[in-house]
Amino acid sequence: PLIVVLNGPNLNMLGLRQPDIYGHATLDDVEQVCIQAAERLDVAIDFRQTNGEGELVSWVQECRGRASGVVINPAAYGHTSIALLDALHAIECPVIEVHISNIHRREAFRHHSYVSQAACGVICGLGVRGYAHALQAMADIIEDEG
Ligand code: DQA
Repeated sequence: PLIVVLNGPNLNMLGLRQPDIYGHATLDDVEQVCIQAAERLDVAIDFRQTNGEGELVSWVQECRGRASGVVINPAAYGHTSIALLDALHAIECPVIEVHISNIHRREAFRHHSYVSQAACGVICGLGVRGYAHALQAMADIIEDEG
C-alpha cells in the first residue's frame, strides 16, 4: 500500500523556523522519520512539501485511486482553506491530520482546522514523532479495511 505524506507552507523552513515551537528537526529529518516508519510497517510512502495552496489541492486530487491513505500536515492552510477541505472530501481514502505543535495551546486562530472535518484522526503537539504515529495508525486502518 502507498501512503502519501503531504506538507504545507513554511514546513520547508523546519529547523530554522521558530525552533522553540517546532524544534530543531529539518524537513529532511521528518522525511527520514517517515521513511524509517514506512520500512518498519512495510508500506510505501510518497513524501512531499509545497508552499502553494493550489499545488497542495492538486496533489490531494492525485491521491484518488492511487493512495491507500493520506497523512497531511496542512500547516496554515488547515486553518484557512476550504479548497483543501473540499479536495480531501473528494478522495476516497482515509486521511490523518498532523501538526507538530499543539495548535490548541497557541493563538485562537490556530484552534480551528477545516482539514479536521475530512480526517479520521488528528495528531498534534507530539513534535515530528507525530508523523511516525500517524503512519502507524494509517497502516493499522489500511490493514483493518483490507
Ligand atoms: C503547524 C501548525 C500551524 O498552525 C502552523 O501554521 C504551521 C505548522 C504545525 O505543524 O504545528 O505552519 O501545522
